[in-house]
Amino acid sequence: MSVPDPQGLLARRLSPESPSGGGGGGDAGWGRPAPGSLSGRTVIVGVTGGIAAYKTATLVSRLAQGGAAVTVAMTESAQRFVTPLTFQALSGRAVYSDIWSQADLADPQHIRLARSAHLAIVAPASMDFLARLACGMADDPVSLILSAVDRRTCPVLLAPSMNEAMWSQPATARNLATLRGDGFEVIDPAHGWQACRTSGPGRMPEPEDLADEVARRLARG
Ligand SMILES: Cc1cc2nc3c(=O)[nH]c(=O)nc-3n(C[C@H](O)[C@H](O)[C@H](O)COP(=O)(O)O)c2cc1C
Repeated sequence: MSVPDPQGLLARRLSPESPSGGGGGGDAGWGRPAPGSLSGRTVIVGVTGGIAAYKTATLVSRLAQGGAAVTVAMTESAQRFVTPLTFQALSGRAVYSDIWSQADLADPQHIRLARSAHLAIVAPASMDFLARLACGMADDPVSLILSAVDRRTCPVLLAPSMNEAMWSQPATARNLATLRGDGFEVIDPAHGWQACRTSGPGRMPEPEDLADEVARRLARG
């Protein structure tokens, strides 16, 4: 019996040609960067208020297993979906969840985090977050770190995730065009089942695919 695979994910997982299929890039398998292959690399994972935030726990775990130093930053809305404690446990590091918590330190946290990063990824990136980022706002932990990242040396990947109607809004397309023009790298969402019980475009790619993408991007330099 064949399994429906509209996104071609199964084919990718099984193909030896796939960078994540055991053929290259130092990967140990689908979504599993080989232990130690990311050591010495610092990755910021931004989490915003989308239902797919639960999948980001797996992304953080896979990156940490690969040896990356992972710091998670969360918007207030994201903390409604998954607790900072989950990400703290998986990354083994403090979660940046409040821009004011260490405001008394001489070295502002967001600048230090932005300077230390080799790559940043926001997953899920909500419709609301994309709009704020496209406007250059920096009023939450995720956008504040990104405001201080130099994208010439530290790629910033965005994984939008939202209901298909939100994904189809002209505002979303407009904001993504602006962000691409500003040097952000957008990972197209998948097509499939959504939490609102419909099927369509806007679904966050599987966390293993995102882990592969991060590993590939870091290998490229
Ligand atoms: C149950 C629920 C699920 C939601 N899921 C999404 C989602 O998947 N994608 C999205 O863009 N917004 C979603 N939203 C709306 C965002 O949470 C809302 O726009 C919020 O302001 C985003 O905040 P942030 O961008 O600061 O994280 C959802 C809201 C609720 C109540």
